[in-house]
Formats: sequence, structure tokens, C-alpha cells
Amino acid sequence: MTASVFRADALAGRTALVTGASSGLGRHFAGVLAAHGAQVVISARHEDELAAVIEEIGAAGGRAHAVVLDVRDPASVEAGVRAAVAAAGRLDILVNNAGVTVTRPALAMTEDEWRRVVDTNLDGAFRVARAVARTMVEAKSGGVIVNIASVLALRVGKLVAGYVAAKAGFLRLSEALALEWAMHGIRVNAIAPGYVVTNLNRAFLTSPAGETMIKRIPLRRFGEPADLDGALLLLASDAGRYLTGSTITVDGGHTLAWL
Ligand SMILES: NC(=O)c1ccc[n+]([C@@H]2O[C@H](COP(=O)([O-])OP(=O)(O)OC[C@H]3O[C@@H](n4cnc5c(N)ncnc54)[C@H](OP(=O)(O)O)[C@@H]3O)[C@@H](O)[C@H]2O)c1
Repeated sequence: MTASVFRADALAGRTALVTGASSGLGRHFAGVLAAHGAQVVISARHEDELAAVIEEIGAAGGRAHAVVLDVRDPASVEAGVRAAVAAAGRLDILVNNAGVTVTRPALAMTEDEWRRVVDTNLDGAFRVARAVARTMVEAKSGGVIVNIASVLALRVGKLVAGYVAAKAGFLRLSEALALEWAMHGIRVNAIAPGYVVTNLNRAFLTSPAGETMIKRIPLRRFGEPADLDGALLLLASDAGRYLTGSTITVDGGHTLAWL
């Protein structure tokens, strides 16, 4: 993590659930929230990976619990959110981050591939947001939801039709939930990251086509997970207390110079 402009206790006393925290951005976000004082519940499908993240956060002096949760399975989401509340006491922050992609021409995409992408990135994100919001409403505690969308929710790209459709829907969903849940003191915002090298896209971004893409990014590099810390902490902490229904694009200017 780069030096933070936020105080190390910016999230002291807060609890957070991070989905898709077994790797990539979610794993990084969990560490950042813990480093700023939050007690974190990390979730994903792969328990062994979660154990490694718990160790990492513990070694850095943070507090974390793990909950196995498959966002595609409504029963798993319900049980996972219940387990997260049991572990942390309540949930103040949700980082709705689990996501997958399939890179394939639309004409060749199978029904299964389409369903996997849309069900994970859109339906799954809704399931988790609603299950967590219900606990916040019940506790009358209010809360914060940070939805991890993508620049592909704002502009389109070839070979990722399902991902683009799901992320665009997710961004509108984020606004719709912000509108409905403001009365409960729940702020709902989104981050639209540009390209950050993770398991999701490593093969493409490190290929010659990925190298070409860097030339179209005004800041001339892909993002690093830490580039998202400022937006994450702004939205998750009281510094963002009047922000709801907003999207912060963090992409080195990529959407300004797409082609
Ligand atoms: N990297 C980028 O350039 C970029 C750019 C814009 C947006 N994003 C978004 O950022 C988020 C994180 O992506 P990433 O790049 O960090 O990819 P990643 O390293 O592949 O991480 C994806 C995470 O989602 C979890 N996941 C996948 N399917 C799941 C399911 N059905 N239930 C629960 N968890 C599931 C995975 O864990 P398990 O496999 O253990 O379940 C993993 O922890 C995604 O929403 C992605 O769309 C990424």
C-alpha cells in the first residue's frame, strides 16, 4: 500500500464485508480497510485462499474473519451474510467486489458463459447488497456500500459483451439502490476501475495487445491496486458522508481516450 492520506484510524470501530476477497482487488481492499482500523470479514468460494488472506491481514496487525460465500447461490449468500454478522457483530461497510469475465466473441459465447458472467457480476452483486442492507436496516445502523463496477460499465469493448452488459446494469443498480436506501442511512456508491493487472485479465494485459492498450491510457500505465485506495477510503469512511449514487472512475484517463 502507498502512503495513505487517510488517518490510520479512519475506519476504527467499523466492520466490513468484502466479497471476492480471495485474490486481486478484493484481497487488496480487505487489507486496506483493516489497515485503517476496520474489522474485516473476507469472503469468496475458495476457503484455502481466504486462510492465506487472514494470515496476511493478521501479520499486518489487522483483524479479519473468513466466510465462504458463493454470490451465485442465494442460500450461500444468506448464510454467508448471517455468518459475517455473527463474526463481526454487525456490518457497516460492504465492498461488493466479486466478479468474473469471459473473453469470447458474442457469436461464440455459450449460454453457460453468459449466465456465469451476468449471474456473478449483476445478480450476485444484487443478492449480496440486499442481504447486507437488510441487516443494516434491521440494526438501524445505516451503512456504506461500495460497488466495484468497471470502466466497461461506461464504455464498451469487444469480446466481453456479457461483462459489459452486467457491469453497466450494476452501475445503474448502484444508483437505484442509493435512491431507495438513503432513507435508511445507507450510502451506495461505485468505483469504476480502469485496467489493473490481476488474475482476471493477466493473460490479456501482458500480451502484445495489452502493451498496445497502454498507449491509449493518458497516464501511460495500467493501474495498481493501491491506485484505488483513495476512492475506496473516501467512499467507505465519513469523508464521503454526503456521497451517494456516485461513481468514481479511477482509470488514468483511459475513458477519455478509449480508441
Ligand atoms: N482487474 C481489473 O482490471 C478490473 C477492472 C475493473 C473492474 N474490476 C472488477 O474488480 C473486481 C475484482 O476483480 P479482480 O481483478 O480482482 O479479479 P480476480 O483476481 O479474478 O478476483 C475475483 C474475485 O471474485 C471471486 N469470485 C468469483 N466468482 C465468485 C462467486 N461466484 N462467488 C464469490 N466470489 C466469487 C473470486 O474468488 P473465488 O474464486 O475464491 O470465489 C476472487 O476473489 C471484479 O468485480 C472485476 O470485475 C477489475
